Order: sequence, then C-alpha cells, then structure tokens
Amino acid sequence: MSDIPIKNKEGVAKMREACAIAATVLDQLKPLVRPGITTQDLEEAGRDWIARLGARSACYGYQHGSRRYPAHTCISVNDEVVHGIPSFKRILREGDIVSLDIVVWKDGYVGDNAFTVPVGPIAPAIEKLLRVSREALDLGIKQAVVGNRINDISRAIQQHCEGHGFSLVRDMVGHGVGVAMHEPPEVPNFVQKGHSDKIKAGMTLAIEPMVNLGGFKTKTLSDGWTVVSSDGSPSAHFEHTVLTTDRGPEILTIPRPVPAQSSLK
Ligand code: MF3
Ligand code: CO
Repeated sequence: MSDIPIKNKEGVAKMREACAIAATVLDQLKPLVRPGITTQDLEEAGRDWIARLGARSACYGYQHGSRRYPAHTCISVNDEVVHGIPSFKRILREGDIVSLDIVVWKDGYVGDNAFTVPVGPIAPAIEKLLRVSREALDLGIKQAVVGNRINDISRAIQQHCEGHGFSLVRDMVGHGVGVAMHEPPEVPNFVQKGHSDKIKAGMTLAIEPMVNLGGFKTKTLSDGWTVVSSDGSPSAHFEHTVLTTDRGPEILTIPRPVPAQSSLK
C-alpha cells in the first residue's frame, strides 16, 4: 500500500552501490563451485569478498525470533530451499545443485541476490528446473513496470514454472529491500487473491522465485534456519534486486569487474 518506500536520488545511488557489491560477491563465488569443496569454503570466500569490497554481511547475526544467523552467506544444497548454514561437513558432489544467497549492507542500504549453480553435470530434469526458474525470474522482472501490480510479477513467475510442472514455494516470498533487508511490499511467487499494490517508480524489489521440482511444501530443520522441501525434491533459487523506473525495470544486482587478485590485500 502507501507504506512502500520510494527511494530518492541518494537512496537509489546507495542501493546501486550495495547491489553492485552483492552481485560482485556472488559472481566471484560461482566459479569456485566444483565437486570436493565444502559449503564452508564458499562461506569463507564470500565473507572475504564482502570485506574486501567494503561491505558487511546482512545475514551474519540476522535475528529471527531468538536465533541469530551464524554465517555471512546462505548456501543451500539440493533439497535445501534457502538459508542453508555453511558447514565443513557439507562436501559438494557432482550432480548437486547449490544456491548461493548473498545479502550485504553498504552505507545503510542492502543489496540482495541469489543464484543456483550446478556442481558438474546434473540430471536433465534438474537442469530444466534451473533453466525454467531463471527464466521465471526474468519474466517476473519484466512485469516490474510502473502501473502494473505486484501480482503481475507473481503471475508471470507462477505461470512459467507451473507450466513446466514445477511448484512455487509459498512459505517465503520476495520483498522490498532498502534500509532494511525486508521492507514492504511482499513479492510472492504465486498469485494471491485480494489487494495487490500498484508499482510506482523508485521502488526497490527483491524478486526471488524459489522453485521446487516436487511439491511446494517446505519445512525448517532443527538448526532453526535451513528450509528444505518437504518431499526432498531439489529446489532452485534465483534473485535480483530491481529498481522500478518510468523507463522500466532496472536490475541493480549487476557485478562489477574486480581488481586482479595480486593487487588485493
Ligand atoms: N535473502 C534471504 C532473505 O531474504 C537472506 C536471509 S539472511 C539470513 O531471507 F540471515 F536469514 F539467513
Ligand atoms: Co531476498
């Protein structure tokens, strides 16, 4: 409704910076994914890149109820939908998929993005899950147009994924993002009945389909964070932070080139 924050020029500039950093970190982690590494290896690389780029993790210490998230990144493998806690014990194997979710603070603003990477060759059905989920994100973003409603984003994502026989997680949704990790509005990946907010210029939205190969149901593991598909089917997660403008949606989570390793401290 009217409580959706609209970013002014300064807010947009700061969102650009936070989002570019989040995207650059994610971009640096993707090529590290290979059989034999652990999700803790990805965590440490992510933690170091966030620091090197002058930002802070928005995940580390994030409070949910009485718990604080214990890592700088969320690394979710196979049936893990989101919020997988990195671990030395979790070794990636050929045929796995791994979702990397990077959320950073920079100068009071948050950038949020995620991507699911295959570990070596994967089964054709899972390859299709990744392709369709990624396409759904693009189709959702295309609907983030001034004058449309949030529901139009949801519908594009839902129709594409369900049309291919996959299901959309309902227990978690995309969201506004800005001076907090989660701001209004909610951006569900399924059409909801009733009121849906109109999209205006200057909104920054984290659009993030979470797509299961099997059923939509999820449960949270006893660690209090890791969300898995209830039926154990693989799950994909693709996310961008998007700015709405009078000229159409603009993806803010675009990586920047980084200095060569050798010149880094
Ligand atoms: N992108 C995730 C979200 O929007 C990141 C959460 S960080 C965690 O919920 F601390 F909750 F893990
Ligand atoms: Co998010």
